[in-house]
Amino acid sequence: MSMTVRTRRRQGNGAAAGASDETPLLQVADLQVHLPTGSRSEIEAVSSVSLTVRRGERVGIVGESGSGKTVTGRAIAGLLPTSPRVRVRGSIRFSEREMVGAPAKAWDAVRSHTVGMIFQDPLTYLNPVMKIGKQVREAVSPGRHRSGENDDALHFLSLAGLENVQEVAQRFPHELSGGMRQRVLIAIAIAKMPDLLVADEPTTALDATVQQRVLRTLDETVSELDTSLILISHDIAVVAGMTDRIYVMYAGCVVESGATREVLERPKHQYTQALLRSVRSLTEEGMELYSIPDSLRVSWAREEENRAS
Ligand SMILES: Nc1ncnc2c1ncn2[C@@H]1O[C@H](COP(=O)(O)OP(=O)(O)OP(=O)(O)O)[C@@H](O)[C@H]1O
Ligand SMILES: [Mg+2]
Repeated sequence: MSMTVRTRRRQGNGAAAGASDETPLLQVADLQVHLPTGSRSEIEAVSSVSLTVRRGERVGIVGESGSGKTVTGRAIAGLLPTSPRVRVRGSIRFSEREMVGAPAKAWDAVRSHTVGMIFQDPLTYLNPVMKIGKQVREAVSPGRHRSGENDDALHFLSLAGLENVQEVAQRFPHELSGGMRQRVLIAIAIAKMPDLLVADEPTTALDATVQQRVLRTLDETVSELDTSLILISHDIAVVAGMTDRIYVMYAGCVVESGATREVLERPKHQYTQALLRSVRSLTEEGMELYSIPDSLRVSWAREEENRAS
């Protein structure tokens, strides 16, 4: 099947007047997110996150479970729970357009052109009673130039690395393997031709070989479409080969950031060093990832306290 390479729009939709090409696509400053956990209780899921994504750039967010990666990604995609008790503070700017406090309609516009999200568990996000082809077709933005294929849905399915796309399009989600479903989610996300793709643990649920293949597809697809990428993972090894820059999160905060290679070769923060040790022990000894030792957490918390006081 022939595949048409399309160049991505350089001018983001809804970009503020005067925003130049040098203006980062996304600027997040001092993001804080409070989520309700009970009728009276809440949690500060994200305490302090600042990050920048330039056009065409790939950025990784790593950190252990519960560090706030998903909540950060969802905040960026405007996909936090809609409860009025969810509080977002700080700034999320797409091409200088402030989205914190923006009305739902403005977020709809941003989600239809600017940012798309890929989640870990495709079955939750796919409609179980709708054929795959229709689900991808519904995602294709109206008014986009046609790909030259008879059916844009097939084009995006094949771009996401699926074979026999005519047949796949006729199936329902439960008739596909996990790897295929994840590719369908990629197809749906790229069908909107967003400027930025937020991929949250896109391969964590897959076994190792399928994981590699899906990651390679994601890599090729964002290159081909010149899409910026935020790749979220608890697994540094996944992010290492795919990103230009990396943000390390711990307990709702970014604790270290920089060029991916620089951070991985010369981690400054104790927490990053511990994360890296856990990856090394995995690769060298074939062991399971061990979690960050409690002693380290305590000493790190103490360091923070000292710094604050
Ligand atoms: N919908 C929610 N309601 C209440 N608390 C939440 C909600 N989602 C996440 N949290 C809490 O916010 C904090 C950050 O969670 P988040 O899901 O962002 O972590 P994560 O880094 O993505 O972890 P993982 O690697 O396990 O996916 C956690 O303490 C979590 O329990
Ligand atoms: Mg998560």
